[in-house]
Amino acid sequence: MRILGIVTRTHDSGLVLLESGVPKLILEEERFNRVKHSRKFPFRSLKAAFNDRGLSLADVELITTPWHMRSLWRMMFGAVRDGFPASLSLLPPSARPTQSTLIVTMPMGLRWGLLWHFGIKSKLPKIVQVRHHDAHAATIFVSPFEQATVLVMDGYGDETAQSAYIGTGNRVERVSQTQIFDSLCMLYTAVTQHLGFRLFEEGTVMALAATGDETYAKKFRELVHFKADGDFSINRDFISYHTHGLNRPLKKRFVEAFGPRREKGEPLSARHRDLAYALQHTVEETILHVVRALSKRHKSRNLCLVGGVALNCVANARILSDTDYHSVWVPPCASDSGAPLGSALWHYHQTLGNPRTYQMTHAFHGLGYGDAEIGDAFRQAGLAHKRLPEPELIQ
Ligand SMILES: [Fe+2]
Repeated sequence: MRILGIVTRTHDSGLVLLESGVPKLILEEERFNRVKHSRKFPFRSLKAAFNDRGLSLADVELITTPWHMRSLWRMMFGAVRDGFPASLSLLPPSARPTQSTLIVTMPMGLRWGLLWHFGIKSKLPKIVQVRHHDAHAATIFVSPFEQATVLVMDGYGDETAQSAYIGTGNRVERVSQTQIFDSLCMLYTAVTQHLGFRLFEEGTVMALAATGDETYAKKFRELVHFKADGDFSINRDFISYHTHGLNRPLKKRFVEAFGPRREKGEPLSARHRDLAYALQHTVEETILHVVRALSKRHKSRNLCLVGGVALNCVANARILSDTDYHSVWVPPCASDSGAPLGSALWHYHQTLGNPRTYQMTHAFHGLGYGDAEIGDAFRQAGLAHKRLPEPELIQ
C-alpha cells in the first residue's frame, strides 16, 4: 500500500511516500526552491517523487495531511472568543507568520495543487486529515522502541502545544495535553525575536545561552508556573502571545524586567546573553518537570521526543542525565519536517492496524545523487573536478 503524506500552507511544506509502512522518500520543498522553511505548495517535491520516478496518482491509494481542519477551526475560534476583544489582534496574518491563513482550507488547497500538477482530470485519492500532534506522535512507529512514552512539544498543533502519549507496538494513545497557549515553543520564539533574531533562529539563542549567566534566571522563572501534576502554565502577566500572536507577544512588564528589544545591528551585550541563559534554563527546568511527572505516571523507561522543541538538544541531554528515563529517541525529522511522514504512519498503523515494519536509523530519505549527477553539476557550473578514491579523499 502506497500513501502520500503531504503538507502545504504552513512552514516546512513537503511530502512523504510511504510504501507498506516504509518511508521510500521524504522530501522538503525548501531543498528544491532554496527557501528555508518554505510553505509553498510542494510542486517540485511532487515532480521528484512522481514524474522523475515514473509514478502517477493512480499509484497512490490514499493521501494524508498532518492537520485536522475541524480541530483547527475549533481552536482558532476558541482563541478569539476567550480573549475577545483583544484577541482580534490574532487575526492578521502577521500574527502567525509561519502559517498561511489559508491553512484552514488545507484539503481544498491540496486538491487544487494536486490537480494543477497531475492534470485537471486526474482522479484524486481520498485525503485523510490527521490531528497535528497525532501525526508527530506516530513517529513512535519507526522508533527503536516496542514500548515508550511520547512527548510532543511544538508551537501549536490543532488543539494543544504539548501532549503526551503512551505507545505499544502499533498502537499509540494520547494521555494528556496542555492548553494551546501554554507553549514553550512560542515563549522561546517570542524571546528569540526580542533578542533580535529571526524566526527559526531559536537554535542560535540556545547556543547564546551558554555564554550567559544567572542574572535573570530567578526572575524569568516567574514566567512559568509549575503545577503539581507535571503540568505548567505560562504567566500571562508577562506574555500577550495569546491575544496578539507574534505581532506583540511580550507585555510591558517583560520589558521592564528584562530590558528592551535588541535593535537591528545592535551588538550583543551581557544583558542579551543573560536573558538567553534565563530562557534556556527555564525551558530546561520546565521540560524536566514535565518529563519527571510522566516517568512517575507511566512505567516505560523509553521516551520519544517529537515537535520543534525536541530540537533543543541541550534540554534533551538533560532529560537523559537528570531523569530516570534510560533511553531517549529524537527522530531526525522531529520538527514539522516529519509531520507528513507522521500523518501517513498514523493512518497506516493506528487507523488500519498494520504491524510495524520499519525502524528509522538514519536521515537519508531524500534524493540520492550519484557520480553522474555530481559530474553534471560541476560541468554545468563550469568547474574543474577530479574523482579521488575514498582513502585519498579522507586524507
Ligand atoms: Fe508541529
